[in-house]
Amino acid sequence: MAPTMNAAVLRAPHTVEVTAVPRPSISEPTDILVRIEKTAICGTDLHPYEGRLEIEPDVILGHEFLGTVEAVGSAVTQITEGDRVVASCAVSCGACYQCRRHQPGNCAGSRIFGLGLALGDLAGGQAEYVVVPSADINARIIPTAGAASDDDILFAGDIMTTGYEAVARGMRPGDTVAVVGAGPVGLCAAMAAKALGAGQVIIIDRVTSRLKEAQNDGAIAVDARESDPSDAVLDLTDWRGADLVVDAVGHETALVSAISLVRAGGTLSIPGVYTEESITLPFAELYLKGVKVEMGVSHITEYMDEVIALSVAGKLKPSSIISHRMGLSEAAEAYRLFETREATKIVLDPRS
Ligand SMILES: NC(=O)c1ccc[n+]([C@@H]2O[C@H](COP(=O)([O-])OP(=O)(O)OC[C@H]3O[C@@H](n4cnc5c(N)ncnc54)[C@H](O)[C@@H]3O)[C@@H](O)[C@H]2O)c1
Ligand SMILES: [Zn+2]
Ligand SMILES: [Zn+2]
Repeated sequence: MAPTMNAAVLRAPHTVEVTAVPRPSISEPTDILVRIEKTAICGTDLHPYEGRLEIEPDVILGHEFLGTVEAVGSAVTQITEGDRVVASCAVSCGACYQCRRHQPGNCAGSRIFGLGLALGDLAGGQAEYVVVPSADINARIIPTAGAASDDDILFAGDIMTTGYEAVARGMRPGDTVAVVGAGPVGLCAAMAAKALGAGQVIIIDRVTSRLKEAQNDGAIAVDARESDPSDAVLDLTDWRGADLVVDAVGHETALVSAISLVRAGGTLSIPGVYTEESITLPFAELYLKGVKVEMGVSHITEYMDEVIALSVAGKLKPSSIISHRMGLSEAAEAYRLFETREATKIVLDPRS
């Protein structure tokens, strides 16, 4: 009988179970097999968990993980057995038209771990083992020296790099950056804006603990339950609006609010994920202000080396947002805590 491993699977919306499944093995010469040491729950996992993104039952969840390489395909050249690696949450081929133009998030063969058949049928990383395809392109060896802990590097595969890209693609030093949503991605975007030299960083949410976390990192926190975000941003920008606004939520109401915060000629950057076929937007406002809009699946492999280098240099410290550490066996409770915002960011240990 094939060996088994524990994995968190989504039986149905709101029903996560940890169960024994067959242990994966490499099948392509460009694959590596990773024994996972840390894995996290991301806001994107909430899309299938809450039933907003339909996926088939029993998908192994999770796309943020790091661990030690146990097996290496014959065509892998940059990674060897025993290396410790972090992988991009979205896997690209490195060879198609978009990849050659440095847009791996738009790869013709793009696949995302743990989001089911429609997104490439790639088993997720909330498990003891995972296979990383095209490993030379999609995995990075974890640096052994410097200021970054494993917990910092873990987020280079997804939220830290997503937040960094969302800011880096539209910001100039000195800019006012407004971030809608102080979830993990919003907190990472705010952190990146500071590291890249923003003049001021304003962050908007309705969850006190998350706003406090942002304040600790030097952002101006606006509680949308108490004040109108658009008044607050206008007040802080001589009535212009923010140079760059990041929608780190992924809901229509947040996007509408984000549009109201951008100055004329400014940039709206949307890392938040949208799965609705259509939504209603104040299009005339967008048009008349001449807002530049950037969005889509992050180009993680284009930016993760910068994020790892800045983490090693101590300039990005995303581990500060971790609120809970739990065993993989507690995944059902961890999802509940994350969905209800009782937890800001949860790291799971697959060995317990
Ligand atoms: N583009 C990518 O490749 C990529 C990568 C990672 C995550 N994401 C997406 O980024 C988004 C955020 O992820 P996360 O992990 O931070 O999730 P999260 O759900 O934990 O955080 C969202 C935050 O937004 C706040 N919020 C909700 N509505 C709001 C509103 N109208 N105004 C202000 N705040 C509001 C919530 O209170 C919460 O704190 C999700 O949509 C996720 O799917 C995208
Ligand atoms: Zn994610
Ligand atoms: Zn490609």
